[in-house]
Amino acid sequence: MGIFINENNLEFHLQNDKISYILKVDSATKEIQSVYFGSRIHHRDSYADLSEKTERPSTTSPTRGDHRNSMEFLRREYPDFGHGDFRTASYEIITNKAHTLSGMKYERYECFKGRDMVFGVPHIRIGNEDKAETLIIHLYDSFLQIRMKLFYLLLEDYSAIVRKVSFENLAKDPVKTSKLMSFSIDLPSASYDLMFLKGAWSRERHIERIPLHKGVQSIGSTRGSSSHTFNPFVALLDKRTTEHQGEVYGFSLLYSGNFLALAEVDNFDVTRVMMGIHPQGFSWNLKEGEIFYTPEAVLVYSNDGLNGLSQEYHKIIERHIIHEKYRNDVRPVLINNWEATYFNFDEETILAIAREASNLGFDLLVLDDGWFGRRNDDKTSLSEWTPNYDKLPNGISGISKKVTDLGIQFGLWFEPEMVSDDTRLYNENPDFVLGHSHYPKSHGRNQFVLDFSNEAVVNEIFERMKRILNDSSVSYVKWDMNRSITEAYSQSLSEEHQGEFYHRYILGVYKLYEMLTDEFPHILFESCAGGGGRFDLGLLYYAPQTWTSDDTDAWERVKIQYGTSMIYPIKSMGSHVSAVPNHQVGRNTSLKMRHDTAIFGTYGYELDITTLSDEEKIEVRNNIEFFKTYQNLIHHGKFYRLLSPFDGEAASYMVISECQSKALVYYSHGLQVPNAPLSNLKLRGLDPAKKYHIHGAKSSHHGDELMNLGVLFTESYFEKDFIDNFLKPGDFKSLILEITEIK
Ligand code: DGJ
Repeated sequence: MGIFINENNLEFHLQNDKISYILKVDSATKEIQSVYFGSRIHHRDSYADLSEKTERPSTTSPTRGDHRNSMEFLRREYPDFGHGDFRTASYEIITNKAHTLSGMKYERYECFKGRDMVFGVPHIRIGNEDKAETLIIHLYDSFLQIRMKLFYLLLEDYSAIVRKVSFENLAKDPVKTSKLMSFSIDLPSASYDLMFLKGAWSRERHIERIPLHKGVQSIGSTRGSSSHTFNPFVALLDKRTTEHQGEVYGFSLLYSGNFLALAEVDNFDVTRVMMGIHPQGFSWNLKEGEIFYTPEAVLVYSNDGLNGLSQEYHKIIERHIIHEKYRNDVRPVLINNWEATYFNFDEETILAIAREASNLGFDLLVLDDGWFGRRNDDKTSLSEWTPNYDKLPNGISGISKKVTDLGIQFGLWFEPEMVSDDTRLYNENPDFVLGHSHYPKSHGRNQFVLDFSNEAVVNEIFERMKRILNDSSVSYVKWDMNRSITEAYSQSLSEEHQGEFYHRYILGVYKLYEMLTDEFPHILFESCAGGGGRFDLGLLYYAPQTWTSDDTDAWERVKIQYGTSMIYPIKSMGSHVSAVPNHQVGRNTSLKMRHDTAIFGTYGYELDITTLSDEEKIEVRNNIEFFKTYQNLIHHGKFYRLLSPFDGEAASYMVISECQSKALVYYSHGLQVPNAPLSNLKLRGLDPAKKYHIHGAKSSHHGDELMNLGVLFTESYFEKDFIDNFLKPGDFKSLILEITEIK
């Protein structure tokens, strides 16, 4: 791997075994141009012949007498507005010298091993052993005295480039930026499909794939969080690309706040892609000498279809985003009391669940919402992180001790960013609450937002949480966030700095995460936002698992987890077995299907285990044992999607061990198809030459057969006992195939 630099032409080629990313300085305009991003190609001494310079009628050019330098058709790496490029600009600066006009020209480059130092924001972690190189392109506007730097980080083992931008004011006068994307790239084709993950509360991250059309298409969030609605991830796929073959580019942001992802197809069939902090409501002021850094973006290229893209993201997230202490850890199987009791519990209710949990083999009991202040419903007490002694006479210290005495760990729910209007904090510190005195403050779930852009607020909440965490035996925290941000007016910021609020808010969230994880390094954090409203790379940097959705119905969860797996690893997805009829959709599914679905995640339960029948308890105990047997494979194996629940009534995916000796396959269907056609499920990732045994099958099979001919779900293929129930007519059935190599 390495960064090749053609000094004469100022061409930069970032290359590893998998990819090449080439950019260059245009000699006529001193602009930075996109040349290539894709499979690795040989390095050459000059790429001058690749510049698509031509004369096109009715365009403008900044170079007198030479019409070939129009910004309208040059492929640009970080485009501005105002000099003949009428597509979307990647940044906007507002000055009192030239209003929004600027001219960022190439100044110099830096290239070094490793990466730049970063503090206070999520970023790609590079360990001592990791090989990485950084290229920084310096751009400078000598009139405005503003410097921008384009950062490119190349890692040895991944088909990925990490990009970000910095913006530095070197002038005496302050300047303002109202848009600063993390990256932009112009790709030389319009023949792509756009894929993104869309949703709402309870149906997060469903997959959408649509053909690109001329003009701008975008997704984003202005809710203050990355949101249930869209995820900070988009992909561009060659039209022929499938799960297993073909070209695809993935773009994702290491960020948890407002974001914009945009693709624009221009009149010459170039596709511009950019991503960054959403410009709506955003501006940032810089005094002399101040620098602003955008969040990092991870650009991944795959020639192995969507599965290849996902496997690449999974590896990057596991090895370079999630903290290394969670890389090989064994996550606790948890029981959460939320859907078992909601707000209606006391110490004895919880201890009864804990006793049963300890009998059944659980590792951790999580006490969810309702343990603090006067919290008997969702109208009260947020920010009062002191025990509700009516429910818990011995406080959190008492109950946590009693739970841990049973041999299981204790976890606790918080919603640190929120406040209820009947609390002392709300009434005595109105300036800690977001909003403007002139306008009504919108509530969401009866609650209001604390001003996390204000350091004093973050410190206050830290102290409150610290007190309770110090005072008890807590080894897990669920950090929830249950509303979108409105009336985003901070009383701690001056008028001209109000546009900084959303970003400062999310920096405040990161700050509190950092303070808590530093102070309590033994605590495992699970992030949550009204289900899966903040499932993003930014929070995974601090909390290695995320509550995927409040929807725990088995068939709905299959879809949600299938979509989530597009970028996020299985080990990061909080997944529970819950009661039936399901609380979100009222559907009945078997305990088996709920279990089969939940094991492809962190695995836990969220129902009243004390009311289960004896048979059900035995099933739960066996389920937990089964999960623990396969936990290492599920959490560290290679994941393949096989059948999409978005394409029909069946869903399937599998994990396989690195040495290809063990695999676990998930297969389920939603509504029963009457008189269903015969089907065969083709597996992936096996060794074609190895022979495998599928538990329950009548014969053994070579890997090549299982991958090319597939598994048949019939009585002739499987033992009757194994397949009988699955084959009986009925909706919502599932199977797990345990596959082992025969030596
Ligand atoms: C929303 C979360 O997603 C649920 O799991 C639960 O913690 C509730 N909030 C509690 O209010």
